[in-house]
Amino acid sequence: MQNFHYNIPTEVFFGRDEIKNLGVNLKKLGNRILLVYGGGSIKKNGIYDAITQELKINEIEFVELSGVEPNPRIESVRKGVELCRQNNVEAVLAVGGGSTIDCAKIIASGVYYAGDPWDQVLDENKIVDALPIAVVLTLAATGSEMDGYAVISDMDKHEKWSSGNDLTKPVFAILDPEYTYSVSEKQTVSGIADIMSHTFECYFTRERGAYLQSRICEGILQTCITFAGVLIDNPQDYDARANIMWASSLAINGICSYGQEVAWSVHAIEHELSAFYDITHGVGLAILTPYWMEYVLNEDTTWRFKEYGKNVWNLDGESDMEISQKAIQKTREFFIQLGLPTKLSEVGIDQSYFEEMSQKAVSLDLENAFVPLTAKDVKNILMMAL
Ligand code: NZQ
Ligand code: ZN
Repeated sequence: MQNFHYNIPTEVFFGRDEIKNLGVNLKKLGNRILLVYGGGSIKKNGIYDAITQELKINEIEFVELSGVEPNPRIESVRKGVELCRQNNVEAVLAVGGGSTIDCAKIIASGVYYAGDPWDQVLDENKIVDALPIAVVLTLAATGSEMDGYAVISDMDKHEKWSSGNDLTKPVFAILDPEYTYSVSEKQTVSGIADIMSHTFECYFTRERGAYLQSRICEGILQTCITFAGVLIDNPQDYDARANIMWASSLAINGICSYGQEVAWSVHAIEHELSAFYDITHGVGLAILTPYWMEYVLNEDTTWRFKEYGKNVWNLDGESDMEISQKAIQKTREFFIQLGLPTKLSEVGIDQSYFEEMSQKAVSLDLENAFVPLTAKDVKNILMMAL
């Protein structure tokens, strides 16, 4: 296992009615806040009312930035920075899924940056300070509630990049599983695909010594497999929502990745799909993952696929290769059962930009991946998924 620095500073209030902790903890961060949210789901399901009541009771003034897009745009970040400056905002409260939280993070850092916040998206070293960030999570998927990452897009340039550092880790997050009852089936299963992909990225590494992290990954994957079907049948099953919500945070907060080099290979490729076609992140991951697995499976990597097959899918077989192949097939069938697409053509993607996408994806250092990928490899994977 490699050396690591454990740093997970986010305080979590998990469970029913934990919103009661919002006002008092926010008050410690400031008296004037920016409330950031998306396209209006929080108004339909009552979360907005619960939040604003907490703010009023605790005499916290707020200004609002609404309409943050799925795959959040840099234009929304710029608006948020402006609002913070005009209103002397002291903290940022994100209420929503990953898009809203990510947008809030770069707003928080952009306030302290004299230039355009897009510079900070391209270079995390330009994030030198940030307003404190608080989160009320409404969708279990990205884990943004407990990590420092923010993924922001400039659609005019077909660019979508991840940035962030320790300064953009939320100070606290409220995770009430009931807040995810209203998430649509499509977003629920896309979120589960995203959680599984974060776990795969941490699991399929070259490091063989991180035994404990591997077992945690397997537990998260089994949690996703167990509860996905339950949520399709009953979106209001509390324990299913709760387990998926906690899985979302643990998959990417560092617990799974510490002690090993994680290259985020499939994410690097998926971000290109979203950048060019604005597709849902989890959908892109569900399409790509089984093809990526097939592409990187070889005699040197069966040690890992075999463990995946045995420990996650309870498979056995004549040889490591056979178990590995069955495990990939199980993964594909699982995504199909969830109603997720299996081909890029199903979501309107053709090969027009594959060359450009492949070049951009490998700019994220995929040489150190589980299996190193060149631009040619990425293009091959995209062609397989077509
Ligand atoms: O905008 P509203 O009206 O709120 O609706 C949203 C949106 O349409 C809806 N939604 C959220 N909570 C809901 C709800 N609908 C009903 N009831 C609720 N309780 O769901 C839709 C999708 O929301 P979004 O925030 O876009 O989804 P997600 O959480 O999957 O975030 C995706 C973004 O996060 C990035 C992705 O690339 C993508 O841009 N990622 C961020 C990461 C991070 N910060 O660590 C890591 C991930 O790998 C990922 O790249
Ligand atoms: Zn993801």
